[in-house]
Amino acid sequence: MCGIIGYIGDRKACDVIVKGLKRLEYRGYDSAGIVTGDGEKLEIRKGAGRIDELTKKLGFLEMKGNRGVGHTRWATHGVPNDINAHPQTDCTGRIVLAHNGIIENFSELKEELIGKGHTFKSDTDTEVIAHLIEEELKSSENFEEALRKALRRLKGSFALVIIYADEPDRLYVVRKESPLVLGIGNGETFAASDVPAFLEYTNRVVFLDDGEYAILTKDSYVVKRLDTGEVVEKPVHEISWTLDMAKKAGYPHFMLKEIYEQPRAIKDAIHGNREAIRSVAEEIASYDRVIFVAMGTSYHAALAGKYLLQRLARKIPIVEEASEFRYEFGDLVDDRTLIIAITQSGETADTLAAIKLAKSRGAKVLAIVNVVGSMATRIADLTLYTHAGPEIGVAATKTYTTQLTVLTMLAIELAKVLKTADEGYLEKLEGQLAKVPEMVELALKHDEPLRELAESLKDRRDFFYIGRGIGVPTALEGALKLKEISYIHAEGLSAGELKHGPLALLEDGVPVVAINPTGKVFDKMISNIEEARARGARMISLSDREDMAKVSDVFIEMPEVDELLSPIVYVVPLQLLAYHLAVMRGNDPDKPRNLAKSVTVE
Ligand code: F6R
Repeated sequence: MCGIIGYIGDRKACDVIVKGLKRLEYRGYDSAGIVTGDGEKLEIRKGAGRIDELTKKLGFLEMKGNRGVGHTRWATHGVPNDINAHPQTDCTGRIVLAHNGIIENFSELKEELIGKGHTFKSDTDTEVIAHLIEEELKSSENFEEALRKALRRLKGSFALVIIYADEPDRLYVVRKESPLVLGIGNGETFAASDVPAFLEYTNRVVFLDDGEYAILTKDSYVVKRLDTGEVVEKPVHEISWTLDMAKKAGYPHFMLKEIYEQPRAIKDAIHGNREAIRSVAEEIASYDRVIFVAMGTSYHAALAGKYLLQRLARKIPIVEEASEFRYEFGDLVDDRTLIIAITQSGETADTLAAIKLAKSRGAKVLAIVNVVGSMATRIADLTLYTHAGPEIGVAATKTYTTQLTVLTMLAIELAKVLKTADEGYLEKLEGQLAKVPEMVELALKHDEPLRELAESLKDRRDFFYIGRGIGVPTALEGALKLKEISYIHAEGLSAGELKHGPLALLEDGVPVVAINPTGKVFDKMISNIEEARARGARMISLSDREDMAKVSDVFIEMPEVDELLSPIVYVVPLQLLAYHLAVMRGNDPDKPRNLAKSVTVE
């Protein structure tokens, strides 16, 4: 997720912006850039690398002017390099902007604009916005009108701070589904992705809502609606956050912030893949031998991917931990094999080794990755990005649900190409997937009851998580979340396995978490739940069916969703439960002991 800071006032803009960028560093980035202006003269300096290095190398602090915009880029379209760093400009260099978000329809807009004579310098989706405003300016009375016309044509998410050279007394800012807040100072105004960027100068904040834009001068701000141009009165909030709290947007931990970011992240995963998914599906559709490789949480996403491909694309994939694959499977792979490697970081040593081995045997490799430009994306034949944005908490949350989102889209698209599922059903699934962010919002509403539940469970030594069918990966992931941050022993298993051994461990009060969405195996799960209850288990169940309440000690009501989409929604209460248990037991959920965010050694 990129970071933006805009400034207009009497200070040297570059000082404010470099400090602001440093304060946004925690969001993660691969490149950075600044534009500042003195009157109509604008200067841009940008490049790939860390802010401290770039400040020295490019002389950020020598830049002149009292207004400017800075940006830290987390690549989504186009690799991290100097040219793709923001700010981006139109052909004339007079419209300069920084962007956070994803422009879903950028390829078609780019083609159209190239047809009209525009010259593009970068591979970013962002640059399209500058050229589109330039184009609209030709038939508009003023810049504001051109901006509104251009923005109405964009699909996707965007927070923007824009400088127009011809209007040296102002900045334009826009927000749609990506964060942006205004800071109101005395004779100076700020705009940023997050409050910490300007908290040193002012704690008076205006929160923009989706579909709003604002015109900022040093002494004023006016907020308007993008669709109608109507002025919107916005209250000024005085916030009392410390810098650390501000970085977490007021949440006590990054993990909780990231859990709450999931509706937005899932939307970005959908927007960001709509164009790419078709060609990837076409390219891999003919492979009958499909092997998923991944580790940890990504391995659980792969397990869900297996169910999705089985049910929708009628394929029978194998799912292997990359650490096993590399020693057991290598010589079974050939050029008729498709490897789907799932890795948030794109740097996990075992997963990279599996990809390399598969490639050396002629296999085709599709990587599903969060970090753009990471090693996995460089060595795979094809890449789909999850667009979750940087994840700072060690435990994977939003990167998991976005992996699941991409896998669901891929399975649907494969089914369309292969004609292996009913078209009406696929359309229904697509429609429901678009609503999954809202369902995740509903699942998040269980936060407080889950905190109360955690209170009664915090001294338990063992937990069991059970599911069947596509509920199995959710059970495994719920158990993994609990283990890694609360340090409580937990087992995730297929409920059918209970009576083959694990039932012996159940005794009075042992918490068993059952995942049971309406679906193929709903009734089978009820039998398994009864088995566990008969041994004294304390049954905590997640379901959309109210009758589940009768067989549960604690019932967590879930929104109605097709069972194939349930992994994305059902994991959310499990993340929250693990989080609260970790905090209650005095652990730092962001930095669990013995674990690293990216396991780059074998
Ligand atoms: C668990 C977790 C890990 C990772 C695993 C793979 O919360 O984060 O289990 O999922 O280390 O990492 P990536 O996806 O980066 O390959």
